[in-house]
Amino acid sequence: MDHILGYNPLKSAAALIAVISAFLWLRARVRRERTIRHIAGPPSPSWAFGNMSQLTLAEQYGDSEFHWQRTYGPVYRLKGCFGEDHLMVSDPGALNFIVNNKSFHHSPMFANFMKLLYDKRSIINVRGDYHRRLRTAFNPGFSAGGIRRYIPAINKAGEEITQALDLSLSLQSVDVCPLLSTASICVITQAAFGCTPEELGAEFVEIATRMAEMAGHEDKGSVLWAGLGNRLPGWVWDTMALLPTAGLAELRKGKILAKQIGREIVQGKLSAARQGLEPDDDIFSQILNASSGGVLSEEELAAHTSLLVIAGHETSANTMAFGLLELARNPEFQDSLRREINSSGEKTEAVYNSMPLLNAFIKEILRLFPIVPLEERIAIADTVIPLTDSINTSTGDRISEIPVRKGQIIKLGIAAYQRMESLWGADAGDFNPYRWIQGKNYQKDAVGGPYGNLLAFFGGPHVCLGWRLAVLEMQVIISELVGKFSFKLPEGDNVARMRGANVLQPTLPSGEKGVRLRVARII
Ligand code: HEM
Ligand SMILES: *[C@@H]1O[C@H](CO)[C@@H](O)[C@H](O)[C@H]1NC(C)=O
Ligand SMILES: *[C@@H]1O[C@H](CO)[C@@H](O)[C@H](O)[C@H]1NC(C)=O
Ligand SMILES: *[C@@H]1O[C@H](CO)[C@@H](O)[C@H](O)[C@H]1NC(C)=O
Ligand SMILES: *[C@@H]1O[C@H](CO)[C@@H](O)[C@H](O)[C@H]1NC(C)=O
Ligand SMILES: *[C@@H]1O[C@H](CO)[C@@H](O)[C@H](O)[C@H]1NC(C)=O
Repeated sequence: MDHILGYNPLKSAAALIAVISAFLWLRARVRRERTIRHIAGPPSPSWAFGNMSQLTLAEQYGDSEFHWQRTYGPVYRLKGCFGEDHLMVSDPGALNFIVNNKSFHHSPMFANFMKLLYDKRSIINVRGDYHRRLRTAFNPGFSAGGIRRYIPAINKAGEEITQALDLSLSLQSVDVCPLLSTASICVITQAAFGCTPEELGAEFVEIATRMAEMAGHEDKGSVLWAGLGNRLPGWVWDTMALLPTAGLAELRKGKILAKQIGREIVQGKLSAARQGLEPDDDIFSQILNASSGGVLSEEELAAHTSLLVIAGHETSANTMAFGLLELARNPEFQDSLRREINSSGEKTEAVYNSMPLLNAFIKEILRLFPIVPLEERIAIADTVIPLTDSINTSTGDRISEIPVRKGQIIKLGIAAYQRMESLWGADAGDFNPYRWIQGKNYQKDAVGGPYGNLLAFFGGPHVCLGWRLAVLEMQVIISELVGKFSFKLPEGDNVARMRGANVLQPTLPSGEKGVRLRVARII
């Protein structure tokens, strides 16, 4: 019948709904983007990709981005996928506002991806009062006083790298990445759960490592996907999470495994407490001990197993790998740092904090190589973003604030901010740890990050929970390694560079992750 009449009411209704949806969607977008239309930015002839491939698939992170920033200033308009306008921001006042204001959330793409990776009740996936309650429960374990307890575990991890390096001294060059990665996961499992990675189970550690690696890989397909992901409704994401692809199956398995392991750890600690044993020093034990007062339920704690391992693992390891690479490129600074380490005697936390070169070095590495170089946010309400430096619009107006509409995607150029010449000086792109000692480090509004005006650990309510632990871990392990070994660049062109998609990763010319160095024992 349909065939004869050529008319199908269902099909027509569907077509009509599609046309109306597309119209409403476009109208919302035109309305949303009107407020940023006059902000200058690079032209982009590609509707599908915009400038996103250049942004995320650059050979060396920032190849285009740092150049755009110099050309268009610290706020510019960048074409996203499917013709969408994004606001790129590295102005310190604007960053500070966005990091701290409730009108901005993780972009839907980022938020939904975090929900695929981690339990929906874990600290990165929740907001408001519940988020504050979780932070309050975890804070004692990550406070300045709390992290001191983990020094023995960090020392042990450092000594294990020393042993591994001693065994590879006869080699032409050593890839320091796997060694730092192993050390880092030992630190986080000891600090968080009081156990070794082996006790956590090889399968879980393997999946957690692969999850972290997934964040470091992007191709054209994932660029388009990232563009689409922000506009898909939540139920599409929820349905997608059930699809039988290999990657998603692994994510699901990792999540189930993490919760199971988390519950076992919690049960083990509770039964030790019932036997009258003193609680251990790790974060889970301490929270459970405090929880006799009802701070967190066992399930709420177990929900954090996988987040703590993944957030605390390759982040610190990659930062230290970039650090050793810069030391190899700067032998004079390496020698000075070694002299400071050698002359500073018995190491306590106070001693580490009083070593000027060591701390300047760590800040400089975090500045040049923020492991999360670009963050994505969405405005959840109409708001006005203030700027530290006014900008010229393409219509010739000078503006010192930018109104944005609900739904506007904003990219926070963390790495770009940390290399801005107007803030850090003409040598902003160079490794120069002395800038932190000579007080030439920074010249404008503070961004309110927790450490040295940097945003490598982000800022505001969702500031990195483990930043003090990460700094202590780097202080201890760098001191151990630089005190005992020298690091030199190997012959030929196998010097690592920073490749970045969602996270920065030191990458060899072959495209594989790695930092190959010539290592020699000094004492
Ligand atoms: C050099 C090392 C590290 C860097 C550069 C780093 C960076 C960051 C950044 C940029 C964020 C914000 C993510 C966002 O909301 O968009 C973050 C959050 C977080 N980090 Fe780190 N991190 C490091 C080490 C650690 C360590 C050792 C831990 C320990 C477990 C940790 C645990 C967390 C947690 C739990 C969050 C979520 C906090 C929240 O949403 O309230 N991180 N980190
Ligand atoms: C992206 O930006 C550059 C300017 O840096 C421009 O030449 C290019 O055509 C743009 N678009 C694409 C799709 O590459
Ligand atoms: C466990 O908690 C109790 C009271 O909540 C406290 O007195 C005790 O010091 C805690 N034990 C440890 C080892 O932290
Ligand atoms: C470290 O200092 C001691 C003296 O305190 C000196 O004998 C030794 O050579 C120094 N080592 C290095 C690597 O500078
Ligand atoms: C956040 O933004 C709103 C709207 O622009 C503003 O009224 C409020 O004061 C801001 N809050 C903070 C903490 O800056
Ligand atoms: C903005 O325009 C003014 C002139 O109207 C000019 O002096 C200034 O250099 C411009 N600023 C930038 C960042 O282009």
